Amino acid sequence: MSYRQQPQNHAPVVKIVTPANNAEFSPGAQVSYQVSVADKEDGDTKYDEINLKEIVLELQYVKDKTKVSAMLNKPFNDAPGLAVMRSSNCFNCHDFSGKSIGPSLLEICRRYPPAKANSDSLVKRVKDGSAGIWGLREKMPSHPELAGKEIRSAIQWIFKNAADPNISYYDATPGIIRLPANKKGTFILTASYTDHGIKNTTEKHLTGYDREIIIVK
Ligand code: HEC
Repeated sequence: MSYRQQPQNHAPVVKIVTPANNAEFSPGAQVSYQVSVADKEDGDTKYDEINLKEIVLELQYVKDKTKVSAMLNKPFNDAPGLAVMRSSNCFNCHDFSGKSIGPSLLEICRRYPPAKANSDSLVKRVKDGSAGIWGLREKMPSHPELAGKEIRSAIQWIFKNAADPNISYYDATPGIIRLPANKKGTFILTASYTDHGIKNTTEKHLTGYDREIIIVK
């Protein structure tokens, strides 16, 4: 008798191609960036097989210099709420701070203070779909495939991170990072990607990341 082994998912390999590690810029500079992802199952950015909107770049300002090395060495954990948003279709319509089909996550934070009543109504709108609130042409489709708990963790992530003045987010579609004009010192840039596992199996989705330092002086 032969047993068919369950195929095994492989972790993606993520690399920040530009800027170089320890690159130096002046405050307010515009930094162009490029990230590559190679994943055995999902494909390779080289062949346009990866949705660049699912690659997330996080730029974090490190206020306390003595913490740089601890922060660099801390293993990257995909926050549950961010993981939900990447593996669903949210980033096809929502940018972190720029224009897209739906409001940016920053705009959502500015409009709704992080109160329980607000997160309850946002969870419901993401679940059931929404139109007319932001005066946009498009509407948000319903998300019946997501559990209420998953949507809640996404909303919590948006509230906690999208408005943090020391952190900004980008996706890997071609663009630029505009460094803050009023901050000097060390920034940590982390690029990460969570793969899609293997269809019709229970294989866990895996995350890969790359991290480097940017110096502003
Ligand atoms: C097809 C595009 C599309 C997708 C996919 C999408 N959204 Fe939206 N989203 C929109 C649009 C358009 C609006 C504005 C709706 C309105 O004006 O009522 C919106 C509004 C929102 C709002 C604000 C709702 C409010 O009450 O003001 C949140 C929060 C949100 N989306 C989160 C998400 C999350 C989380 C996901 C993924 C699970 C997601 N969206 C997927 C297009 C999309």
